[in-house]
Amino acid sequence: MEDKKVLFEVKDLKMYFPARGGKTVKAVDGVSFNIYEGETFGVVGESGCGKTTVGRTLLGVYQATAGDIIYKGKNVRDFNGDDKMSFSKNCQMIFQDPAACLDPRMSIGTIVSEGLNVHYKSMTREQKEERVNQVLSYVGLTSDYASRFAHELSGGQRQRIGIARALAIEPSFIVCDEPIAALDVSIQAQVVNLLTRLQKELGLTYMFISHDLSMVRHISDRIAVMYLGSLVELGDNKSIYGHPVHPYTQALFSAIPEPDPYHSWLKNRVHLQGEIPSPINAPAGCKFCTRCPKATDRCKVEAPALREVEPGHYAACHMLDI
Ligand SMILES: Nc1ncnc2c1ncn2[C@@H]1O[C@H](COP(=O)(O)OP(=O)(O)OP(=O)(O)O)[C@@H](O)[C@H]1O
Ligand SMILES: [Mg+2]
Repeated sequence: MEDKKVLFEVKDLKMYFPARGGKTVKAVDGVSFNIYEGETFGVVGESGCGKTTVGRTLLGVYQATAGDIIYKGKNVRDFNGDDKMSFSKNCQMIFQDPAACLDPRMSIGTIVSEGLNVHYKSMTREQKEERVNQVLSYVGLTSDYASRFAHELSGGQRQRIGIARALAIEPSFIVCDEPIAALDVSIQAQVVNLLTRLQKELGLTYMFISHDLSMVRHISDRIAVMYLGSLVELGDNKSIYGHPVHPYTQALFSAIPEPDPYHSWLKNRVHLQGEIPSPINAPAGCKFCTRCPKATDRCKVEAPALREVEPGHYAACHMLDI
């Protein structure tokens, strides 16, 4: 990865939301990572750990509470009008529930070309139509789909429309937020293969958010594991799946069927106990300490920093000191 160009440099990013009673939801609580051009950066973790919030904050949907997002060497906070426009054209998102984000009153052609009206104002109607047909063909649909409506389509076809809409304005980075979770298992592989093919053909960079660990393993170059708003482990696919070092990652992954039962870390399987604490009232010290079978007194008071355990592989656990 060293020769790869950094697309995003995220430093100590925090995204807090106000909650009832003057409390604060620390949805993302100080995460740092890089995303390299052309890669698929997987983000995994249980429901509520902050995956979607990281993706949305990265794209500027939410204004970060603290921290820095450096895009192509420039802090997004310092963006001027032109930078903002180019950023919103280049960085797109596709969602879990394709039905919910497609306006039922609009034809597919109108939905797919919406972004063109914003980012390609000088395009003629014919050029827009041509672009719509082109992106429909990218996602394996014929141009007749342009005159149809979302309710006439299957779940898999609607997700293709979501992808086509994102692609219409030629982005270079797409946050794929659980893009296949709402689809039938038989269709999931098709959509994933489509995303992989488009990435190769168009040179896209993906952030791929999912709690389907097998899918993330299949698609990602590097993987970030989140727990309660924090990053607990980060590394390339091989290191993260081959020898996860954080007890949380080990616990999360021990649920995946493993073809090789003699994987060394599996001998020390950790099973998750108890509920995830609330991000309104996260444990002091290491946030995983209330569920970690290896936790010591130190873990209850001192938050472990992310450290490099081997080149490019990082984990945040006091056990790594020993
Ligand atoms: N707009 C918001 N206002 C208040 N709290 C929010 C908001 N968005 C998310 N949260 C809270 O922040 C935490 C992280 O939510 P987020 O949606 O990022 O989790 P997630 O990892 O994407 O979960 P899932 O796997 O269920 O999609 C949750 O506790 C959630 O309730
Ligand atoms: Mg989510």
